[in-house]
Amino acid sequence: MRHVYSGKVREIYEVDADDGTDLLLVASDRVSVYDVVLPTPIPDKGALLTQLSVWWFGELADVVPNHLVSATDVPAEFAGRAVRCRRLDMIPFECIARGYLAGSGLREYLATGAISGVQLPPGLVEGSRLPQPIFTPTTKVSAGGHDAPATFAQVAAEVGVETAESLRALTLEIYRRGAQRAAANGIIVADTKLEFGRAPDGGLTLADEVLTPDSSRFWPAAEWAPGRPQHAYDKQFVRDWATSTGWDKKPPAPEVPADVVAATRARYVAAYEKITGTVWRT
Ligand SMILES: Nc1ncnc2c1ncn2[C@@H]1O[C@H](COP(=O)(O)OP(=O)(O)OP(=O)(O)O)[C@@H](O)[C@H]1O
Ligand SMILES: [Mg+2]
Repeated sequence: MRHVYSGKVREIYEVDADDGTDLLLVASDRVSVYDVVLPTPIPDKGALLTQLSVWWFGELADVVPNHLVSATDVPAEFAGRAVRCRRLDMIPFECIARGYLAGSGLREYLATGAISGVQLPPGLVEGSRLPQPIFTPTTKVSAGGHDAPATFAQVAAEVGVETAESLRALTLEIYRRGAQRAAANGIIVADTKLEFGRAPDGGLTLADEVLTPDSSRFWPAAEWAPGRPQHAYDKQFVRDWATSTGWDKKPPAPEVPADVVAATRARYVAAYEKITGTVWRT
């Protein structure tokens, strides 16, 4: 096992497999807000993200092939928070689907009337439901940079029109299926970020994490009300706390107090339990 990369949240290792080399993605308990890792871990977060992604890979298996090789064939020290996966040639865009207006999408809409080049009707407010889900990709910038909106034409220029169309169709279909499944359990998926890569045979394959509280906005449907920030089972709680301290969003980020850690963990657990309909094990 060779360590090859430290992401903001995951440690990545190479492991030898019968048919080449696999990756081991180990999710830590680190949380990043505004692309900065907070100094305080959220207990069980890595395991919660990993188990929820594994659940979704199963749910979505008929929509798109995924990178998962095994969620159990991992070193004992990483049990529960690691997956063995196929190493893919990653597409250099984050594939985002939005069904509601929030976050950077809301800011872009208020400034320009569009998100990633997709024109929207006037008069929408924070939390509004969009007329239909839209594909709003961003560039994927590593190490210290911030992702920036990309238009469909920019994606097409980089990866080809056919691939760009496939990415858009897959992203919207995964969002549609995920939102429908979560809605049955009282959760709105406001938006979600997906990553795809190419398998050795060239096929587009779903990678990374899927429909988790780190990659999505999850709102309790019963409390949804456009025109204000929504209650959320996701990173938004800790993001809002970090902003409320007056922190300038540049490293180093402030230490997170114990009550905020506990409340954040409770939101990750609630997201897992409501979506999967199963009780978290700890
Ligand atoms: N099957 C795969 N093959 C190759 N790379 C993958 C695969 N699945 C996920 N990745 C990459 O692994 C990394 C996961 O680490 P992590 O989530 O911590 O990164 P991040 O903080 O989101 O982004 P960054 O890469 O900017 O650090 C991402 O860069 C993702 O693109
Ligand atoms: Mg990531």
